[in-house]
Amino acid sequence: MSTTFTIDTSTSRANPTPAPMKRLTIPAIQARKGGDPLVMLTAYTVRMAQLLDPHCDMLLVGDSLGQVIYGLPSTLPVTLDMMCAHGAAVVRGSYHALVVIDMPFGSYEGSPEQAFASASRVLAETGAAAVKMEGGAVMAPTVEFLTRRGIPVMGHVGLTPQAVNALGGYGARGRSNAEHAKILDDARAIAEAGAFGIVAEGVVETLAKEIVAAVGCPVIGIGASAECDGQVLVIDDMLGMFDRTARFVKRYEDLAGRISAAVTTYAGEVRSRAFPGPEQVYAPKP
Ligand code: KIV
Repeated sequence: MSTTFTIDTSTSRANPTPAPMKRLTIPAIQARKGGDPLVMLTAYTVRMAQLLDPHCDMLLVGDSLGQVIYGLPSTLPVTLDMMCAHGAAVVRGSYHALVVIDMPFGSYEGSPEQAFASASRVLAETGAAAVKMEGGAVMAPTVEFLTRRGIPVMGHVGLTPQAVNALGGYGARGRSNAEHAKILDDARAIAEAGAFGIVAEGVVETLAKEIVAAVGCPVIGIGASAECDGQVLVIDDMLGMFDRTARFVKRYEDLAGRISAAVTTYAGEVRSRAFPGPEQVYAPKP
């Protein structure tokens, strides 16, 4: 499938005009359980959404934007305002992928009612189709509360970055028998509560496979297993924007290196007065 975007130069804003297409729906995503793997990447900006949309089934506006976009030390300081602003941009830049928006830390854990207020604001302000929430069995009543009220929820189990203080770091989960059993129970509870999908992050591969077999909804892996129903990565990680990434990241590009090379050339040309050249300056009207 191809999508073409043009830039509306009259407003100097990226104004996508794609070929008509239907956005993927929650039932279409659910129907992919055990089928063709679902392709998911994070996106935080309109232009990146435009570039990723033709290739992805889902775009995740992850609260990883705290670190990736804002340089925060963790996802904990991310706010609903940030998620709404970036979520709306990603919806504006996409036409095909189903957009899922992370619920930030502190916006949903207090009660199902608090989660409903936050999630309904996110969906109303962004136009996205679904929210994602971290947490296991303890969040199941909240997942059920939202799902029954028409808010599709994606769960997130295993390595849950919002719980970094309780977990003591970002290491892989499920290595002990007790933790393995707990995470499997968490996934089952979230699926039974009605989650349309579950992200399994940073779990040992045997556990990832058991989760896939144990739940009826698609399991999207990140640092999990190729046998998951789909995969997600943080876009800046897979494009090589950072020097340090988790072991489970595969770098498909070296964007940081390319940016550095391009800016080195630019800086040299500015200093030598090679830029701007004749093509970049205006001649007087004849
Ligand atoms: O915030 C995020 O980007 C995520 C993915 C890593 C799954 O939750």
